[in-house]
Amino acid sequence: MSFRVMPLAVLLFLASGCGREPAGGEEPSAPDRARDYFSDANIAQFATRHLELDLAVDFDRRVLKGHVIHQMECLQPGAESIVLDSRGLHIDRIQLAAGGAAAVDLPFQLAPADPVRGAALHISLPAAYACAGGFELKIDYRTSPQASAIMWLAPEQTAGGRHPFMFTQSQAIHARSWLPLQDTPAVRTTYEAVIRTPPELLAVMSADNDAQAPRNGRYRFLMPQPIPSYLLALAVGNLQFSPLGDNTGVYAEPEILPAAAWEFADTQDMLEVAEAIYGPYQWGRYDLLILPPSFPFGGMENPRLSFITPSLLAGDRSLVSVIAHELAHSWSGNLVSNRTWRDIWLNEGTTSYLEARLMEALYGKRRADEERLLTYQSLLESLQTVPLAMQPLAPVFESGDPDEGQQGLEYAKGQMLLEHLEALFGRDTFDRFMAGYFDHFAFQAISTEQFLDYIDEHLLQARPGIYSRDDLQEWLYQPGLPAMMSVPHSDNLDAAAADAQAWASGELPVDKLSKKNSWSPQAAIYFIKALPAGLSEDRLAQLDRALGLSATQNAEIARAWFIEVAKRRHLPAYAGMREHLGRFGRTRLIEPVYRELVANRRDAGLAAEIFAQARSAYHPLTIAAIEPLLPDHNLQ
Ligand code: BES
Ligand code: ZN
Repeated sequence: MSFRVMPLAVLLFLASGCGREPAGGEEPSAPDRARDYFSDANIAQFATRHLELDLAVDFDRRVLKGHVIHQMECLQPGAESIVLDSRGLHIDRIQLAAGGAAAVDLPFQLAPADPVRGAALHISLPAAYACAGGFELKIDYRTSPQASAIMWLAPEQTAGGRHPFMFTQSQAIHARSWLPLQDTPAVRTTYEAVIRTPPELLAVMSADNDAQAPRNGRYRFLMPQPIPSYLLALAVGNLQFSPLGDNTGVYAEPEILPAAAWEFADTQDMLEVAEAIYGPYQWGRYDLLILPPSFPFGGMENPRLSFITPSLLAGDRSLVSVIAHELAHSWSGNLVSNRTWRDIWLNEGTTSYLEARLMEALYGKRRADEERLLTYQSLLESLQTVPLAMQPLAPVFESGDPDEGQQGLEYAKGQMLLEHLEALFGRDTFDRFMAGYFDHFAFQAISTEQFLDYIDEHLLQARPGIYSRDDLQEWLYQPGLPAMMSVPHSDNLDAAAADAQAWASGELPVDKLSKKNSWSPQAAIYFIKALPAGLSEDRLAQLDRALGLSATQNAEIARAWFIEVAKRRHLPAYAGMREHLGRFGRTRLIEPVYRELVANRRDAGLAAEIFAQARSAYHPLTIAAIEPLLPDHNLQ
C-alpha cells in the first residue's frame, strides 16, 4: 500500500466517530502489572496495525535510510500526540494522511535519550484533530551506524570473505534503533517492506521470503500475521537457500550451506512433531538463517525465519536442541507472546519445556533427560548468583535493562514448573491443556496473571485436589524453588559423573576413559563439570590429550572445558582457550570463560587483553555483557 496524501481540511472533516473500537474487540484494562516499563509509546491512545517499510541498506555508511508508514488507529478521543520509541534515529520528516488526499507535515520532538529506553519521539497532531479511527503516519528517517539492533560485518568477518553482511537483533528493545515504532510486545502489527541492497546480495526478513527471488537488489516482503515489534528482523548477505522439507529450508552463505543442510536435516520432522502435539503451525514456512560467528545468541525465533549461530555446526547434530527451541517459539512466544519483559518466562520457560518435548519425540527420552538434567544443573547454579528479587518467574521488573533480567533463570525455572505440572496431571492431560492455551491466546500478548487465571480455570480447577493456585503462585512470585518439585534424572549423566570421580581418584585409567567414547556430548559436558578441584596440571593435560578437549569441534564441550581451564588456571590449554574466545561471538560460549579468568584473580589483565583483540568482531550485545566484567572498563 502506498502513502496517500490529503489536505488538512479533509483530515479535520474526519473528526467524527471518535472512540471507534479497535479490531479484535475490547482492549483489556491495563493494570500496572501489565504496564511496559521499557516503552514510552502511548499505546492506550494509538495502536499501529500495519507497517510499510522502505529502506536502503548502505554498507559504506552503515545506515538504513528510507521511510516507514504506520497504519494507525486512534483508540482514545482527545489524544493529541503520538509517542513512539526510538534510539539513535535521525528523523527527517513526519507526515499525516487519511482518506486519500494531501499529507500534512507534523511537528515532532525527540525527548532526551534515556540510557535504556532511548529517545521518545513525540509527534503533535493538528490542533483540530479528533480521534477518527484510522490514519497513516509517514516517517522519513535514517539509522545511526551505532544502532543497537544492527551488526554490520566486513567481508572478512563472513564465511566467504568477499561480501559484507548485516543483521538485526530486535529482542528485547532494539527494534526502536532501526525504526521508530511502538516497541512493546503488547502491540502486534502486520508488515510489508521493500529492502534495497547491493544487487549481488540477498535480503531476508521475518516474513514471506522467496528463495527464488531474482537477485537484483530490490526485495519485497509481506508478513501477513500480526507480530510484536521484537520479532521484526532483517539480514542481508551473500545468501543461498537449500530446502530441508516441504515447508522448511535453510539460508546460509554458500561456504557453509551444505554443512548446515546436513546438521539441521531433521527440521521438517521437528515441525511435524510439534504440530501433532500443540496444533497447526500458523506461519506458513519455517526456514533457518545461519549467521556469521558473531551472532550473539544461539538462536532467535524471528517468525518464519529463525536466526541461528553457526556454532551449532558440530558435525554430529548434537546441538540441534537450539533448533527445537527456536521452532517451539512458533507457539510459545510468537503465537502467544509475553505482554511485557517481566513476563518473559511465558516465552522462554514454556519454550524450554516444549524444546525438551520435541527432543524427546525425535531423539528419545535418554537424550532429552540428559539435556533436562543439564538445564536443572544450570538452574541450581543461577540460583546462587541471581539476586533474590529476580528469582520469581514473574518478578517486579520496573527498571534496569530487559537484556539483563534474570540471567536465564526464567528458562530453566519455567521449564521445571511445566515439567512438574506434566508429572502431576499426566502427559495427555497436560498436552491438551497446552494446545488449548495456544489456541485460546493465539496472536495475543498476555501477562503472567492472565496465564494464572487461565490455568487455574482450565487445569487446576478442572482436576481439583492435585495442585492449587497457591502452589503455582509460589513459582511465580517467590524466589528459589518450591520444596516439592519433579527433578530430572539421567543414568547416563550419573555414570559420567561417577567416571569423573573414578578417574580423579586414580581408579579408572585415562585410556579406559577415552575408550568410553560412547559418551554423548551432553555426558562429556557433565563429566567435565564433575571433575573435582585440585587436579594437577599434568593430570589435566593427560585428560585433554586423551579426550581431545582443547581441539573439540563441539562448541558446548569447548565451553565447558575452557570454563574449567580458566577457573583452574590450566596454562597448557590457554592457547586453545584464546582460540575459542576468538572463534565465536555467541555470548553464552565466551562470557563465562572471561568471567572465570577474572575470578581466578591472576588473569584479569589477560582477559582484558584478549577481549581488546577480539572486541571488534563481537556483537554490541556481547560487548555489553562482557566489558563490565573486565578491570578498568570504566577507564576505556
Ligand atoms: N529469544 C531468545 C533470545 C533472546 C532472549 C534474545 C532475550 C534477546 C533477549 C532465543 O529464543 C533463545 O532463547 N536463545 C537461546 C537458545 C537456547 C536456550 C536453546 C540462546 O541463544 O542461547
Ligand atoms: Zn528462546
